[in-house]
Amino acid sequence: MKILVVGSGGREHALAWKLAQSERVQTVYVAPGNGGTAKDHRLSNVPLSDPAALADFAEKEGVALTVVGPEVPLAAGIVNIFRERDLKIFGPTREAAQLESSKDFAKAFMKRHKIPTAEYQTFSDLAAAHDYINAKGAPIVIKADGLAAGKGVVVAMTLEEAHAAIDMMLADNKLGDAGARVVIEEFLAGEEASFIVLVDGKHVLALATSQDHKRLLDADQGPNTGGMGAYSPAPVVTPEIHARALREVIMPTVKGMESDGIPYTGFLYAGLMIAPDGKIKTLEFNCRMGDPETQPIMARLRSDLVNALDHAVDGKLDQVELEWDRRTALGVVLAAHHYPDTPRHGDVITGVPADTDDQITFHAGTKLQDGKLVTSGGRVMCIVGLADTVRGAQQKAYEAINQIHFDGMQYRKDIGYRAIK
Ligand code: AMP
Ligand code: GLY
Repeated sequence: MKILVVGSGGREHALAWKLAQSERVQTVYVAPGNGGTAKDHRLSNVPLSDPAALADFAEKEGVALTVVGPEVPLAAGIVNIFRERDLKIFGPTREAAQLESSKDFAKAFMKRHKIPTAEYQTFSDLAAAHDYINAKGAPIVIKADGLAAGKGVVVAMTLEEAHAAIDMMLADNKLGDAGARVVIEEFLAGEEASFIVLVDGKHVLALATSQDHKRLLDADQGPNTGGMGAYSPAPVVTPEIHARALREVIMPTVKGMESDGIPYTGFLYAGLMIAPDGKIKTLEFNCRMGDPETQPIMARLRSDLVNALDHAVDGKLDQVELEWDRRTALGVVLAAHHYPDTPRHGDVITGVPADTDDQITFHAGTKLQDGKLVTSGGRVMCIVGLADTVRGAQQKAYEAINQIHFDGMQYRKDIGYRAIK
């Protein structure tokens, strides 16, 4: 069968890499893909990203299943478009994707269905937002309502930062429509984990646990990014926390969406804050897999992903079990010069080692130009190491990185530190 993966990042490379391993698969198309998916002979890049054009392509090529990586096409209704044309696709509809595309929708949903999350209020009036912050004090968290490519959340440690964030979004419209409404919420302390599951409308199948590193610099300093590294499994998600996340967050979400008349299908990612006493609260929902969490998760998946997604699209996830590599997988993101603000493009990348059983490179912001691999985005690639221990996996990843070069390359040296300490 032919499969289509929509997107161009490291997450999509990892999904396509895994899907291509299935015996049932002839071709995996990646639209639009990147330099890594271009180089892999089992994958084939397609220069399309418009949802309707992708549906035309899927129909013409007889694509049996489409898997969507990023949130933007999901929020734009790519699943609605494919389903109207009877094309099989795994992902949430435009309506269900609001769990990610509107923070206000997600917060109101959680409140209505008693899903644990931070206290909040939503504002579009500038003065009212400033007053609320003065009344609540810092630290406090300001979130743009809409999709803002990772730039929409400000964790303000001082009132000054909080007021500046409100002005940036509501007065100066720096985030456009996405920031025309803001959610202001209580600051939560604890350790974060990414809890990602497959959902078929009713049934849930949990993927292996993972943890991301959102800040640019070592020791969680510097600005927030899309994610600078991730590893799986995440020891912070103990069996008790796992059960609790399913019981308190995931199942009520799937049931709540169904009872609200918006059944949820697709990957569902709950960002969890785990307090020292083991209580969990939902920081956010994403209607897709995480990037870079997908890279270590796919590196560990032993089962056939095509089979799992096929069952998910048919509403039969209760018939699937997943098997995982017992090793830890740890991925380190190599980012371009000046990421995250104004990443430079066009730097030549050299020294990328060939994949082995315990070192895998997933590309993101790369492209082939005159036969050379060059940078073309903020997060350039993610190097995954696998070993029996977190430290061993870390060593494998950094060993590979030591061979790679491009001008301005930046990466964190401490990915996985919470699991090692
Ligand atoms: P979000 O996109 O909502 O997950 O926010 C991005 C990041 O901001 C999260 O991964 C957290 O590190 C941080 N964050 C979000 N909400 C809160 C909160 N209520 N308290 C503390 N940190 C938060
Ligand atoms: N790595 C965080 C995310 O994908 O949202």
